[in-house]
Amino acid sequence: MEVWKEYQQKNKDRFLEELLALLRIPSVSAKSEHKPDMAACAEAVKQRLLEAGADKAEIHATAGHPVVYAEKMIDPAKPTVLVYGHYDVQPAEPLELWNSGPFEPVIIGGKIFARGSCDDKGQFYMHVKALETLIKTNTLENNIKFCIEGEEEVGSPNLAKFVKANKALLKADCVLISDSAMISLDTPSLDIGLRGLSYIELEVTGPNRDLHSGVYGGAVANPITILAKMIASLHDENNHITIPGFYNDVLESPAEERKLMAQAPFNEQEYKDDLGIKELWGEKGYSTNERTGIRPTLELNGIWGGYTGEGAKTVLPSKAFAKISARLVPNQSSEKITDILIKHLEKIAPPYVTVKATLHHGGEPYITPINSAAYKAAAKAMETTFGKTPIPVRGGGSIPICSLFEKELDCKVVLMGFGLDSDNLHSPNEKFDVANFYKGIETIPYFHKFFAKEG
Ligand code: BES
Ligand code: MN
Ligand code: MN
Repeated sequence: MEVWKEYQQKNKDRFLEELLALLRIPSVSAKSEHKPDMAACAEAVKQRLLEAGADKAEIHATAGHPVVYAEKMIDPAKPTVLVYGHYDVQPAEPLELWNSGPFEPVIIGGKIFARGSCDDKGQFYMHVKALETLIKTNTLENNIKFCIEGEEEVGSPNLAKFVKANKALLKADCVLISDSAMISLDTPSLDIGLRGLSYIELEVTGPNRDLHSGVYGGAVANPITILAKMIASLHDENNHITIPGFYNDVLESPAEERKLMAQAPFNEQEYKDDLGIKELWGEKGYSTNERTGIRPTLELNGIWGGYTGEGAKTVLPSKAFAKISARLVPNQSSEKITDILIKHLEKIAPPYVTVKATLHHGGEPYITPINSAAYKAAAKAMETTFGKTPIPVRGGGSIPICSLFEKELDCKVVLMGFGLDSDNLHSPNEKFDVANFYKGIETIPYFHKFFAKEG
């Protein structure tokens, strides 16, 4: 649409400046010291939504960080799109690995470097600017609601309650989320699924206190050694997970779908070079894309114990710890997997130690059909602005609220991400290409236009 293009062209520098301002707020949900920043960020998001033309924008307190809700209702009889996103970000550490301040955004080589640039401030902000475009050019033909939360990166512990308590407020005909990646600007794709998550922490205790490793070493089991052995036993020589029952509920992808997925371009050498590794690793019998998309996995996210300070200390520690998580695929249940994971760890713990497992958070996997009105509108929108039909792919990450939205609001979720897998999400030097930001702002109005017709 010419009128959108003209409006966006005229305002593009301001759009970018506004995003940079948002990125300067260190809205780290995991750290209590950032509570005031979280409130400031929610307030900023609310203000930007009002300026964009929302007729209502409000901050809803929760037991944790607030949720920002906004809406532009033109006619309740018309289709309604609920845009979901998150204004919280992951901690920026390790800081020394950043080339510039994580909360001092810089643009280098057409890329915005800052924590949250891609995940998810840069992406949900495209929706705010798409809303502005539609309103200011008088071309909005459907209703748009926004639910931008502040706890996605800590597992959305309070969002389910908010959604259940505000079903009428959030009622929509589809949920639209830009919080994932596409293959590239040349090869657009749409995620048709996300993995679920089970996250636990394990504490392994040996002797009742730290011991001199010379006086007791050799006679008392070292909990770090025991933990390492337990962890090493969780994969077999084919890199299958050895936990009995782990794969029981896994929905195998049909050969046809695997064939379709295999068409997504993938350059193994580039992939390895980008990561600085010589060889890939993974479950036997599956391609790299399948390993990160349609297969469940088990990862160690952290491991510690004993002395890790400067110099050397000859200690036989009392305790060792690990953070362990499983990525789940349809039709695995997060609760069930957490349960069998904990029971298995308790079972394989030898008598020299005691183990204690605690749950961090979980989330269910999600798949969305490609024949829904919402998916079709997204595919058509991308076709319009990229000149190519997007390839349906499975995303490896998790957005725990998706399955709950589908259940509580009785509508489909569409994952129209504009990031790239190589955007360093959760890592130092997170980035978002300026071109992707603008492409999103250009594409999203078409989604609304097509969904307004067919939703
Ligand atoms: N935006 C990501 C999820 C994502 C990333 C989906 C890439 C698809 C492709 C989201 O912010 C995220 O990081 N989620 C967490 C889950 C949460 C429970 C901490 C994740 O996937 O680890
Ligand atoms: Mn995200
Ligand atoms: Mn994230």
